[in-house]
Amino acid sequence: MSKGKKRLLFVCLGNICRSPAAEGVMCSLVKRAGRGAEFEIDSAGIGGWHVGQLPDVRMRRWGKRRGYDFSSRARQFVVEDFDRFDCIFVMDEENLYDVRSKARGRDDEAKVELLATYITRHTGARCIPDPYYGGDDDFRLALDLIEDACTNLLASL
Ligand code: 4NP
Repeated sequence: MSKGKKRLLFVCLGNICRSPAAEGVMCSLVKRAGRGAEFEIDSAGIGGWHVGQLPDVRMRRWGKRRGYDFSSRARQFVVEDFDRFDCIFVMDEENLYDVRSKARGRDDEAKVELLATYITRHTGARCIPDPYYGGDDDFRLALDLIEDACTNLLASL
């Protein structure tokens, strides 16, 4: 990774619904803000079930409707990601527990944060709920929350 850039990693359970959407939204926001050169942005999953796959078609469809192209390939989180990234944003408490449990020490642990911390418009939302076993509305809500959080995250960086 290039030196001097802020390196952001988004992590969810499968890396096919929420975190690739967060990666795609954040990439789009930084480009639109003319700040693309400042960041390295990636995503990963806790589990390896979907490695190599494109994001879930339901999330891709919602993304397309809003002008995003979610086309990253799923990969599994590895402990070296703590070295490769400055900040690791997770989608829910389970992800937080799973990623923190892989931390090698306090420096690694301190890099991990709930993306939902940056939500402002959807008051009361404490996480980005997993839409995988849900319906179309659950995917829309996840994308709403991700757009809300990423907008404020970028403003904070
Ligand atoms: P994600 O959603 O964590 O937002 O990518 C899921 C995708 C797949 C599975 C669970 C959650 N799965 O169990 O296969």
